[in-house]
Amino acid sequence: MFKDRLDYIRTLFAPESAALRATRENLTDPNDQISIYPEEGKLLQLLIRLGGIRSIIEIGTLGGYSTRWMADALPEDGKITTIEKDPARAKAARQHLPEKATLIEGNAVEVLKTMDTTFDMAFIDADKLNYLHYLDWAEQHVRKGGLIVGDNTLLFDAVWMQETPPRVRETALAAMRAFNLRLAQPEKYLSIMLPTHEGMTIAIKNF
Ligand code: SAH
Ligand code: DHB
Ligand code: MG
Repeated sequence: MFKDRLDYIRTLFAPESAALRATRENLTDPNDQISIYPEEGKLLQLLIRLGGIRSIIEIGTLGGYSTRWMADALPEDGKITTIEKDPARAKAARQHLPEKATLIEGNAVEVLKTMDTTFDMAFIDADKLNYLHYLDWAEQHVRKGGLIVGDNTLLFDAVWMQETPPRVRETALAAMRAFNLRLAQPEKYLSIMLPTHEGMTIAIKNF
């Protein structure tokens, strides 16, 4: 039998390939287990296929686990560019990088300034304080009809709570609330937030 509903869903719909398992297991530091979950990876794959997504910018690689989920849904000539500032994490990610992926090591705030390409999709999953900055960039560089996805947008539920939980900083909370408010605007986006473990905000850019 199954442990719970997530175990059932993961077993049927989101089993890990050998490459995904190897990528996850390469993260040896227990503090580094902050990748997306398999069902979120599968959801991203569905979005990529539904949207005809061919090019992705990912902000926050960690070990490349989400990178591989997304890369696996791209067409043969599809490309994912992923940015990671932590040298040890970038090194680990390089050991398991999918062929369709290019890793850029550096602070995404700086790296993005040097990038002038247009992407079909942006996956924002790095430092919360800069989420608004990444959204500004994505609004300029994701094509009309493309996708902007933000991870951890519940910010440990702080976004909807009256009292800020102790682990959450007020500055990060203000940034995340503003990030979600912007993506919630129906004139600009067709969007929803899903109540995943950390919250995932998904938006089609209508402009
Ligand atoms: N997308 C990954 C998880 C990313 S965790 C997955 O689901 O598998 C967030 C990552 O963002 C961490 O590895 C952290 O080092 C990185 N990060 C934080 N701030 C950053 C910045 N300013 N520029 C680039 N990477 C950053
Ligand atoms: C953290 C970061 C993430 O990207 C995530 O999905 C979960 C937790 C963190 O920094 O704690
Ligand atoms: Mg995350």
